[in-house]
Amino acid sequence: MKKPTSDYMAVIELHGGDILLSDGMQSEKQFMQHGTTSTFSHSLAVTVMCLRIAAALRLKTHERELVRGALLHDYCLYDWHEPHKGLHAFSHPKAALENARRDFEVGKIEQNMILSHMWPLGKLPRCRESFILCLADKLCAVRETFRRKKKEQ
Ligand SMILES: [Fe+2]
Ligand SMILES: [Fe+2]
Repeated sequence: MKKPTSDYMAVIELHGGDILLSDGMQSEKQFMQHGTTSTFSHSLAVTVMCLRIAAALRLKTHERELVRGALLHDYCLYDWHEPHKGLHAFSHPKAALENARRDFEVGKIEQNMILSHMWPLGKLPRCRESFILCLADKLCAVRETFRRKKKEQ
């Protein structure tokens, strides 16, 4: 049976409550990711999706790392629609990791998750959590973009 989103939110608060409440993550509410979806909402939706995928496929994961890496995967802290250095698709995972390391303890799994979430662009995913994030991020990006198109019609 499909678990309600509130069950996943409880898991996210347990492992990533400090991230959610941090100034950096809160500032993501002002940056738009896809259409009318903020980077904060996108990151939260991606994290829920990661947990859903892991549950649906009955994958054993490092749950804490999965949650924290997913929450921080787009922690680049700028609006990518504004002028910035480098090509966003390639540069933002590195920027996200630099910020994440400055603000939180980030282990090897979260590091690879953040750096490889744009695969096949950039770094190769090297653990299960990274592959799950790659898939979840793309599914949410399509959903958010499609939702925007529908609203515009
Ligand atoms: Fe990203
Ligand atoms: Fe993303």
